Amino acid sequence: MIQKYVYGKPFTTEAVVEEVTVGTGVPAYGCIEAEQGFRFTYKMEENDIVYGLGEANRGLNKRGYCYTSDCTDDPNHTEDKRSLYGAHNFIVVAGRETFGLFFDYPSTITFDIGYTKVDTLQVSCENADLNLFVIDGNSPYDIVKQFRGIIGRSYIPPRYAFGFGQSRWGYKTKDDFRRVAEGYRENGVPLDMVYMDIDYMQNFKDFTLNEENFQDFPAFVQEMKEKNIRLIPIIDAGVKVEKGYDIYEEGVKNRYFCQREDGSDFVAAVWPGDTHFPDVLNEEARKWFGDQYRILTDQGIEGFWNDMNEPAIFYSQEGMAELKDMLKDFLENEDGSGITAGEMAADNRNKGEENAAESGKKRFTGPSVWPLMWKLGSLANSKEDYRRFYHNTRDGRVRHDKVHNLFGYYMTRAAGEAFERIDPDKRFLMFSRSSYIGMHRYGGIWTGDNKSWWSHILLNLKMLPSLNMCGFLYTGADLGGFGADTTRDMLLRWLALGVFTPLMRNHAAQGTREQECYQFENIEDFRHVIGVRYRLIPYLYSEYMKAALNNDLYFKPLAFVYPEDAMAVQVEDQMMLGDEIMIAPVYTQNAKGRYVYLPEEMKFVKFLPDGTISEEVLGKGHHYVEIALNEVALFIRSGKCIPLTDAAEYVEALDLEHMTMLGFSGAEYMLYEDDGMSRNYQKPEAYRRLCM
Ligand code: GLC
Repeated sequence: MIQKYVYGKPFTTEAVVEEVTVGTGVPAYGCIEAEQGFRFTYKMEENDIVYGLGEANRGLNKRGYCYTSDCTDDPNHTEDKRSLYGAHNFIVVAGRETFGLFFDYPSTITFDIGYTKVDTLQVSCENADLNLFVIDGNSPYDIVKQFRGIIGRSYIPPRYAFGFGQSRWGYKTKDDFRRVAEGYRENGVPLDMVYMDIDYMQNFKDFTLNEENFQDFPAFVQEMKEKNIRLIPIIDAGVKVEKGYDIYEEGVKNRYFCQREDGSDFVAAVWPGDTHFPDVLNEEARKWFGDQYRILTDQGIEGFWNDMNEPAIFYSQEGMAELKDMLKDFLENEDGSGITAGEMAADNRNKGEENAAESGKKRFTGPSVWPLMWKLGSLANSKEDYRRFYHNTRDGRVRHDKVHNLFGYYMTRAAGEAFERIDPDKRFLMFSRSSYIGMHRYGGIWTGDNKSWWSHILLNLKMLPSLNMCGFLYTGADLGGFGADTTRDMLLRWLALGVFTPLMRNHAAQGTREQECYQFENIEDFRHVIGVRYRLIPYLYSEYMKAALNNDLYFKPLAFVYPEDAMAVQVEDQMMLGDEIMIAPVYTQNAKGRYVYLPEEMKFVKFLPDGTISEEVLGKGHHYVEIALNEVALFIRSGKCIPLTDAAEYVEALDLEHMTMLGFSGAEYMLYEDDGMSRNYQKPEAYRRLCM
């Protein structure tokens, strides 16, 4: 049962699309204060678990830390970070009382889950204008499914999007892309997509192509398609300010960009230099921006990734002017009476405390470099800038910071709605960096600028079920790591997790070590690991489609399947995938294997580099399993089986007629299949019973 409680005047986010009964009185759980700001407080029992928050830092059980939904372009996902790129305000408390909460609030909201006080869950935000959805159910799993039922069906990608994709920030010319295609094809490593990062554009202008490097683009798209590779370009949120650039001119003329209080178009510097943000919260502007995708679909493009849509701001004109003023002051007043903090610290150490205090007083009278450095460091993505522009929404004119977390959602919605106009029966590939619940209907997400760190493989794994709970099924991380230099073993281990994530893409930042699979020794290991992905696609696609069509999870915590098993409930580094398998990737440097916990008897399956498969039935309990760098392992649940096909160079070449079955004898599997391209889902003939 779901009830909605309305506080103040909530902004219409359209996260929830089904009618929900409005609750009378107060919610059955916790205590609410809504006079000055909004605060929900709940006393947790020692063993209560808190699930949810989608794209958030740390563990699967969110207890013990504080998280803030505030979509942020921050490429350093260290453990202390409270905000990442998404705002997914759904949690489930599971324990003495079990219930779900969705705080439909589009601005900054904080989830203190036993951080300030170990036994207290407190959710707070500045304005008491929100819809709170309270969900009762038999179990956390049941609650999640009910929640998914009210937010609408998750995005369904085309089947080829389950293939492997290669990306790198830095590919510039047709030959760069050809080299990637050849690197994979010549080495027999499967590949379906090559991603085009910002350098394909003319001066980073959205929906343009570099004039020198991409003459006759449609022919190039076709050339790649003949190799069965799709090009997937990036689209950034900011539209370059440039006289004569038609999209800029049209946007200015029609007032489609976000404006300052005085009605002038707000200027934010991003990759192209000065840009304007399309007001995607304004229906007419959203339609206009969405229609621009047609410029590329008309040239044969069938998929996109939306980026910088928190929206990221490197600096604003106002911020830069303030910095310049400070710098001017600093230079004018630099008469030698000032001291830098470094000098001050050294001075303090030399003099001992008493003298240091004295000298501090004296020295701080002059200009200090610190405010200047602080200003420089806070120019990007500044809260002040988010208060400097407005949206013309159906709820009226709204200052950006009040609806900040919706920008990525509505940018991607612009694209999703446009695709329906462009070709109502076709699926387009689409994923975004920033998101809010509701965006899951229009596209997937990738988890942004991670690093080539072992700890980020584990973060990737732990986040997957939480993302699914919030509706984001088509997801994946930059395999191998985006920032920093990867290593061969790290890439192989990360790929062995990526084998199971719907979005399987290797992406890296400019300036880092080249990390296409063919850059490393013994390429046959990469061919094998990615080949296993292709062998599993019939199963992975079928489970994805079932999850999307039934508002179910593709990745589940073990706790959702074995709620009575106290050990299983604690496991955070193994996940259930679909109804048949469990995964337990290796995420440690130099490890030859790992410990796993089996909540029931399972078949431990390894895809060995020689193409054979080893199978061993392991009993319930703890085991150490060996998994070499060039092996992919999974566990099949007792009495279950999965279909397997042969690997192929690309998804459309997979043989879906002659499949073999892997698992327990006598088991059956219900396979979902469709054409993978049209939106004609769930015809009765889509289901086929397969037997071991
Ligand atoms: C952002 C994106 C990253 C991309 C880069 C250049 O950092 O997150 O994926 O490569 O911008 O476009």
